[in-house]
Amino acid sequence: MTISMEKIPHPRSVVWQEDRLLLLDQRRLPAETVYLELTTPEEVREAIVKLAVRGAPAIGTAAAFGMYLGVKDVPDADAGRLWSTLRRVGEDLRSARPTAVNLSWALERIRRRLETLKERPVSELKAALLAEAHAIQREDAEMCRKIGEHLLTLLEDGMGVLTHCNAGGLATAAYGTALAPLYLAKERGWHLRVFADETRPVLQGARLTAYELQQAGIDVTLICDNMAAAVMQKGWVQAVIVGTDRVAANGDVANKIGTYGLAVLAKAHGIPFYVAAPTSSIDLQTPTGADIPIEERPVEEITKGFGLATAPEGVRVYNPAFDVTPAELVTAIITEHGVIRPPFGPGLQEAVQRSQG
Ligand code: MRU
Repeated sequence: MTISMEKIPHPRSVVWQEDRLLLLDQRRLPAETVYLELTTPEEVREAIVKLAVRGAPAIGTAAAFGMYLGVKDVPDADAGRLWSTLRRVGEDLRSARPTAVNLSWALERIRRRLETLKERPVSELKAALLAEAHAIQREDAEMCRKIGEHLLTLLEDGMGVLTHCNAGGLATAAYGTALAPLYLAKERGWHLRVFADETRPVLQGARLTAYELQQAGIDVTLICDNMAAAVMQKGWVQAVIVGTDRVAANGDVANKIGTYGLAVLAKAHGIPFYVAAPTSSIDLQTPTGADIPIEERPVEEITKGFGLATAPEGVRVYNPAFDVTPAELVTAIITEHGVIRPPFGPGLQEAVQRSQG
């Protein structure tokens, strides 16, 4: 089953156009649809840091094109400069956001591809880099579609689904991970009732998930984060589906702050808690969630939310962008290769092996 791109009406988040990277400025959604036109890797890094582009897979794709922007003007005769630029730009981009492993996954994939062509002319290496960035984007859309198909086998017409943050088309090349089954369900003529957490502090759920689902004509109800328990208590939610920024080898899951709380709530209410994870988000080198670096973001996201003074000047603030949900609270992890049930270790290893061919 395929979902046609045309049927998903929201704009693409990452677009390559000639020698420029167009990034949908997600900070301005839903009020305005504006693209940033970027021509340097430094601009790409800033767009990632400042959340103009966000969502683990979209960050990885943007960084891949950012690598190409870094080397596109290296002269053909200067192979040494090409390799040193690749190293420098790669390190710079990698550090933009520490939790989403898709960023280093994409950069590592490019490095490995270019290593296989090491002795080839500079022009060929540049062309291969650009082709790899396009492949990362194309394959991301394919992975998301397959995740949607597998997730749909866990759902039924008429269910209520709760999601957090935005793991939708805007966070990926297309369809999203957690939101992909919702698009597929719509195609099938199913009616799912979706609850979107607003997702404090920067409201990806309200600004992005509610926006993209509403655009697609999917029944979405926006709730504040602190309403999830009440909505579950009413019996309106039959499944929680979230995305992830990194799955550790034991199945612990890092995702947007607030995800852990939802998993606890889901368990308390006997609701399955599903994590949609492309293999690009699985990090077998990280043994457990305790080893996942958690990004802390500027305090102004909380004290001056969207420009308003929302807290007293000078108050101490803790603002982690992500939390870790322990594997024991996760019902299943769904990759492009299928549904993995606990214990997650062997299934995650097999999925990663399959993705490496
Ligand atoms: O800070 P963000 O908006 O980049 O956080 C995004 C999330 O937490 C998503 O759930 C995750 O990246 C998966 S996107 C398919």
